[in-house]
Formats: sequence, structure tokens, C-alpha cells
Amino acid sequence: MLDAAKRLVAPSARSDVPPFMVMDVMAAAARIEAAGGRVIHMEVGQPAASAPASAVAAARAALSGPLRYTESLGIFSLRARIGRHYRERYGVAVDPARVVVTTGSSAALFLAFLALFEPADRVAVAVPGYPPYLHILKALGCEAVLIETAADSRWAITPAMLIAAHRRAPLRGVLVASPANPTGTMMTTQALRDLHAAAAAEGIRFISDEIYHGLDYAFPADTGAQLSGDVIVINSFSKYFCMTGWRVGWMVVPQALIRTIDRLQGNLAISVPTLAQIAAEAAFDGLAEMEAVKHGYEENRRILLEGLPKAGLDKMLPVDGAFYLYADVSRFSNDSFDFAKRMLEETHVAATPGVDFDPINGGHFIRFCYAGSAAEMHEAVDRIGRWLRPG
Ligand SMILES: Cc1ncc(COP(=O)(O)O)c(C=O)c1O
Repeated sequence: MLDAAKRLVAPSARSDVPPFMVMDVMAAAARIEAAGGRVIHMEVGQPAASAPASAVAAARAALSGPLRYTESLGIFSLRARIGRHYRERYGVAVDPARVVVTTGSSAALFLAFLALFEPADRVAVAVPGYPPYLHILKALGCEAVLIETAADSRWAITPAMLIAAHRRAPLRGVLVASPANPTGTMMTTQALRDLHAAAAAEGIRFISDEIYHGLDYAFPADTGAQLSGDVIVINSFSKYFCMTGWRVGWMVVPQALIRTIDRLQGNLAISVPTLAQIAAEAAFDGLAEMEAVKHGYEENRRILLEGLPKAGLDKMLPVDGAFYLYADVSRFSNDSFDFAKRMLEETHVAATPGVDFDPINGGHFIRFCYAGSAAEMHEAVDRIGRWLRPG
């Protein structure tokens, strides 16, 4: 192609974000399945269960009527129901006016970054962590500042780490997730409170990604909405409510940002898919059903905690919440991508290499998602054990 013609279709530098390495694992799993193999899928972070029956019924009923745009901030009755959820689950009053319905928490992250940060602003994120944090920030021209975490802080950013990074060059924001992906670890009440206090004292904006709330086993997860009205809280119907494909989530925003986010969402998307919003409101009537799903994860977690050490994977991070177990495989390999590939080929158990989540130490870890069935967990443990400890 001629240089001038090439330039016309060249992508922008900021759109050059990396893909997930797990896509390669998924493609290899698909090849095994096409050849008749039975893969146990523990690589993708999504529930095996369906949306609550109440959500499906509400969507079905709504299909026969017109499905029009909604208010950009979301259907008011859904925003009010989400506000009530904060009172019921955490005992905290959240004005529904501060609730914004979004296209999953993915769109909430994008809106939050856009509303809070200018290009070149520095935003602290924990490593290991969810890769799109870095990639969305990059696409917006912001700088993600990677804060390496370790066992002594339960794999969370501490005030000392935050302030050290801030002294090197000023930070504009910090993003935390508890329970976290990929580690499944959680921040204690004190850790969350201390980090927020340190950030607030330095004028660093605080974003709390609470997408795995409801899926806590070690101790109850605290919401950033309890800390202060200046925190941006992000959540989703994807995980606890098993609605990944419905693409609906929400955020709780400071009073002063409501109008900004209203205008951004109105321009970028007009509104969130109406059918998904209707289903989401009805999902709150399915809490008992979702608690039963959660008990299934608890049982899966128990099976893995008991079985994986016997199978040879005896080093793992605290399995506090979400449905992830982050295992240290450095006894076997320093290349988690190669380890995951071989494990898939030889045991037909698919997991995600840590390199997807951690450019520093990810070569030592793999992430298992335990949102499948108990029978699959038993079988995965069995297959891995026979692979790592033959005979
Ligand atoms: C930590 C974290 N945040 C956000 C998301 C985005 O999820 P969704 O857009 O489905 O709400 C995910 C998805 O896996 C995640 O793990």
C-alpha cells in the first residue's frame, strides 16, 4: 500500500491496547472440543448459571411492548431499587439521584475516567489487577500507575504505597477492587478506610469497583458508598446476578458529577438497553435464587481449597471472594502462559495465565474461575493431580 493510503487507515496510537492472552487458551480449548475432547472451563470469569427467573420473566413480558430509549441516567424505578439495595445490604442511604445505570461496569469505568480525569493524569491501580483498567485509561490518554502488591497487604494498595507513588509524581486518582480480579482477595474495612483517608487528604480521587460484591466468603465486603459521598462506586449485574450478557451495571456518583455523567452518557450511548434495565430491576426479586448460586460457589471453593493442595498446587492467595483462585505455579514453571497451555493440552482443564493480569510477576501464577459445577471442580482437581503427581 502507498504510504499516504496507509496513513489513512492507520489506527491511533492510543487505540493500541493489548488483547487478552486467555483468548489463545480459549481458542486452544475450542480446538480440543471440536476434536471431541471435554474441556473443564475455568478460564473465563463468568457464572455458569442464568439470570434470576424474575429477570427473565420481566424481560419476556416487556418484549411485547415498545422498547424506547430511557433517560440517560437510567429508568428511575431501577435507580430507586438500587438505592434501596444500599440501605438493605449495607445500611447506607444512597439518594437514587446519585445512581447511574450503565452498560455493565465496563461502561461505568469508562464514564468515571472520562468524568474525573484529563489526558496525562496519573491513576494508581493494583497489580495484579483487571487489565481493562490499564487499557481504558491508555485509550483515554491517561497514565495507569501500576502499584505492585503482595501478601503483606493482602494484595491491596496501602496508604504508604499510594503516597510513595504520589510523591514520585502527583496522582489524580486511585482505583480499588474488593473482592478483586484476578486474586479473589478482599480489603478489610480498615484497609479500605485508611486508603480512602490517605487519598482524600492528598486530593486523590477514589474509585471503588465493587462488581464482585455479594460474593464474599471470608468477611463481608464494604462499599465505598459508606466512606464518603466523594467516592465513585462501580457495580454490575454481571457477576452476583449472573447477567454478564445482559450488559447492565451501575455507578453511584458524587452529587456534583451527576449532570456531567448524564451529558456524557446521553452523548455516547443515549441510554442503556431498555430490556436489560427492566430485567435488572426485576433481578432484585431473585435474591434467594442468587444466594443459592453463591452457596454453590462456596462449595466449589471448599472443594478447590481442599483438593488443589493435594493435587500439587499448594500455594495460593487468600480465597476471600468473587469466584477466583489465584495459584502460584512457580514450583513448576516461571512461564504461566506455557503452564496453562500444557495443562489444557494434557488435562483439558482451562485456566488463565497470570501474565494477563500482572506484567511483573504474572509468570508465576494462574487464575482458576470456580463458577462452574461442583462435579467439574472435583474432576478438575482429579485431572490436575494426575498430571502434576503422576503415579
Ligand atoms: C474487576 C472487574 N471489573 C469490571 C468488569 C467488567 O464487567 P461488566 O462490564 O460485565 O460489568 C470485570 C469483568 O470481568 C471485572 O472482573
